[in-house]
Order: sequence, then C-alpha cells, then structure tokens
Amino acid sequence: MTALKTDSTLRPVRWDADIRPHGALVLLDQTRLPDELVSITCQCSKSIWNAIRTLQVRGAPAIGVAAAYGVVVGLDESRPDDQSWQTNVGPVCDYLAGSRPTAVNLFWALNRMRRRAEQLGHRTWTDARTALLAEAHAIRDEDAAMCRAIGRAGQHLIADGAGVLTHCNAGALATSEYGTALALVYTAAEKGREFTVFVDETRPLLQGSRLTAWELERHKINTTLICDNMAAVMMAQKRIGVVITGADRIAANGDTANKIGTYSLAVLAAAHEIPFYIAAPSSTFDMQTLDGSLIPIEQRPPEEVRTIMGKATAPPSVQVYNAAFDVTPARLITGIVTEHGIIHPVNVRNIRSVLGLNERITPIA
Ligand code: MRU
Repeated sequence: MTALKTDSTLRPVRWDADIRPHGALVLLDQTRLPDELVSITCQCSKSIWNAIRTLQVRGAPAIGVAAAYGVVVGLDESRPDDQSWQTNVGPVCDYLAGSRPTAVNLFWALNRMRRRAEQLGHRTWTDARTALLAEAHAIRDEDAAMCRAIGRAGQHLIADGAGVLTHCNAGALATSEYGTALALVYTAAEKGREFTVFVDETRPLLQGSRLTAWELERHKINTTLICDNMAAVMMAQKRIGVVITGADRIAANGDTANKIGTYSLAVLAAAHEIPFYIAAPSSTFDMQTLDGSLIPIEQRPPEEVRTIMGKATAPPSVQVYNAAFDVTPARLITGIVTEHGIIHPVNVRNIRSVLGLNERITPIA
C-alpha cells in the first residue's frame, strides 16, 4: 500500500511560532479557493472569530482546532499577568463560542481549553501559556490521528469500480489534515482501488465545487462534479454505490446535522436502496443533545442565496431562507464511521458502545 502524499498546502490551520511577538495562527482562506491560495495571519481573537463566522476556516473539526489556538491568541492579546490570566480564559472562550452555533467541535475544543486552564491553577502566565499552546497542538494532532483512523475503519465501504457521492467538504480542508468522509476515499485510493467520487456542488457557498473537487483533483482522485439537483438521476442510473458525508453535530440518538442538502441525499439514498454513511470523529458527538430536533441550526445572511460568488442571481428584495445545515434522522443513516469503528445500526446503545461511553443504568426503585 502506498501512503497518499498529504499536500501541506491543504492544511487549513497552522500555528507559526516565528511570527512576532508571540507566534500566530495562520489560516488558509477558504473563501478564496479555488482561484487563489491565500493565507491569513490571526493575532487577535476578533480576527479568528471573524474567520470562523465568514467561513475562511470552516468544517467542524477545523473550526474546533482554530478556536483552541484562538484561546492562546486571545489571552496574548489581553496582556495578562500571573494574577489575571485565569480570569480572562472564560470571556475569551465565550467570545469565540459565539462565532457559529452548529458544529459541536467548536464547543468541545473550547471546553477542553477551559478545563486545561482550570487544571493549571495558580501557574505563572508563562507556564500556563506554554501548557495551553501545547493543549491546542494536542487537539490538532489528535484530530489528525482520528481522521486517519476513520479512513482505516471505513475504507472497505468503497469497492473497486464504485461511484461514491459526497456533499459539501469533509476533507483535509475541513480538519487538521486528511478529512473525515474523504479519509475513506484517500485510504481506499492508497489501497490501490479505482473509483469515482461524484461531488455535489453544494449551494449556496459551493464547498463541493470550490473545495472538495479542488482537493480531490490535487490528490489525483477520479472526480466528477454534479449540481445538487442531479443526485437522484445519478442514483437511478446506478452510478452511485455509496453516499458518504461528514457531520457537524451528532445527537445522542444518532440524528446528524450536516451541510444543508445532506438530508435530501439520505432520503434519495433510501429510495434507491443505496447505503448512506456519515464519517465523523468522536468530538462531533453531542451526547447532551438527545435528538436532532434540539440541534441549533445556523441561519446565514440572505445574500448568500441571492448571489453566487458575489454576483446577483435573484432580485435583491426577494425573501430568502438560508439554513446552513439540516438534520438527517438516524433511521436514514446506514452507519457512522468513527475512529473507534463503525456504528451500525445507528442507535443510542450502539453509539455508546462503539465510543466506549459507560452505560449508566438507573435502577428502578
Ligand atoms: O458551513 P461549513 O462549510 O463549515 O460546513 C461544513 C460541513 O457541513 C461539513 O460536512 C462538516 O463540518 C464535516 S467536516 C469534516
């Protein structure tokens, strides 16, 4: 098996320790792809908040990693001393948590940074900063390892000669590296299998055509771009053997929020008896949220629907509905590929067992 060469230009989040005075977070500006490869340097929490809100950095795991580094940047900015740094952690985390509501990895990473700060107790600011930066690096490295493990766990779902349909971008650009849904694709390619990935364009912000098609081509994966409304006919023509997408938040019962349009694909896949898989790390599960109806769904500006890449495609006054995500009910999901293995069938018990969460059975009095 030849390991697929990972392209470091696809790394969306990077810490550059050499940038003065304290080091800085460097993000690949995904709003400029595929035309331009431009990086932005973030040295204040506002620029990181803004980068997350405007999708310069996007994809649930990558948002979490960026926010973890954002805590260090935000603390540097407030010029704390040995007495004050602890009191600044909460406000910085709260501020970054307000950037986007749906991807739970954001809150997961910020909570982890909060917990680490609590453990550091009365350490000096210099010591605490070193430890918090190390925690952000660990979040990044663990995310990369989880993506590799997801690829290994689910690669067999892509058979030789298969047609794979994916939506939005759940690839290297959406994670520390390698991706979730696309980790299966990359690992199957490493094993020498030949297949085609059909990529939904993904309106309104075109993450499929701008990011996934670009990323797959760079990795020399056989790629065919389709408009979102072509999926049904491709399935009817038996050109799709499996659908694989990522996730932004998975509720305790397996209902899954992902990019708007994912639910339609799951319905179509069920109608055509095609397996529909979600690929996601354990950091995307939200066991506090019982089912999908409780997942907060981000509503985005109407201009994203009235325009395409800044060009008007609708009357400027027309009303718009622009939910960024939808929820696919667990019953439509064949399986969820995680770094611990595949959850199948998707239900609370199997989720808890594959993720290794302890069953808490309350005895009936
Ligand atoms: O609005 P985006 O581009 O952040 O939405 C991203 C998605 O919906 C991805 O499928 C999801 O975050 C999984 S990324 C591994």
